[in-house]
Amino acid sequence: MSSAATLSPATSLDSDSFGFVCNLVRTKSAIEIEPSKAYLVESRLAPIARERGLASLRELVAEMRRPGKQDLSRQVVEAMTTNETSFFRDIHPFEALKSQLLPELIARRSRERTLTIWSNACSSGQEPYTIAMILREHFPAIAGWNIRIIGSDLSSQILARARSGLFNQTEVNRGLPANLLVKYFQREGVQWRIKDEIRNMVEFSEVNLVETWPSSLPKMDIVFLRNVLIYFSPETKKTILGKVRNVLHTDGYLFLGGAETTMNLDTSFIRNQVGKAVCYVLDTTKK
Ligand SMILES: C[S@@+](CC[C@H](N)C(=O)[O-])C[C@H]1O[C@@H](n2cnc3c(N)ncnc32)[C@H](O)[C@@H]1O
Repeated sequence: MSSAATLSPATSLDSDSFGFVCNLVRTKSAIEIEPSKAYLVESRLAPIARERGLASLRELVAEMRRPGKQDLSRQVVEAMTTNETSFFRDIHPFEALKSQLLPELIARRSRERTLTIWSNACSSGQEPYTIAMILREHFPAIAGWNIRIIGSDLSSQILARARSGLFNQTEVNRGLPANLLVKYFQREGVQWRIKDEIRNMVEFSEVNLVETWPSSLPKMDIVFLRNVLIYFSPETKKTILGKVRNVLHTDGYLFLGGAETTMNLDTSFIRNQVGKAVCYVLDTTKK
């Protein structure tokens, strides 16, 4: 066999193999791949073929079709996810948290002294770490509360990165204010590691939105579910929003991505404008 490093797998997929990959990815993650995205599948799969010493994508797909290849299938599904994220992404939701939603929630939870926030599809962790920094920075009075920030994603690889709390220069240059970089990160070679005081505020776990959610998930005060529904069919979005409804406290908040909405999908959510941010609250007149 030729060396994996020098192999350059034939990089085009025949339509049958492309269909097989699309089906697999849809079944395992609900991500819909449009026919026009064949180039994307090819570019994401080529490194996997190379790594496994396979000479073509056709061979890779043949390998995936063999029984007992769950690990390979999982690797392919994870490779097809888009992990784009940044600290303080789209800023307005975090302004809304800081100026209005957290102060109100904290007042309402002053007896229970608990706060639970779920950053779903959190990719490499910038979103839950942003939330942790906001709590640490602006709400010192609740330091003794039972605060849970849960970061979850389908991809075990990206969660390993999130748990490490290690970010490169480009990542910390995107959205993170310089004072927070200096205060909450320390240099490690050419990278930056988030300090334990923030890292330990976030727990990461694997949750696939389209599989059964862990029964251990607590009721949530705030759910971030941003920039992931866009990949799904309307039916899948409806199912997921229905599941969010069940884990959200009746007075909780849901944040979606800028291009996402509950409109025409789930009438139990009401759009709520907070400054320049949009979040969704449950319509308590509905069951
Ligand atoms: C574009 S990133 C969004 C990251 C972050 N929420 C943000 O807005 O910056 C999309 C993430 O969704 C995850 N994802 C895709 N399908 C998923 C599924 N079925 N269940 C859970 N996470 C999924 C991907 O692994 C990826 O990390």
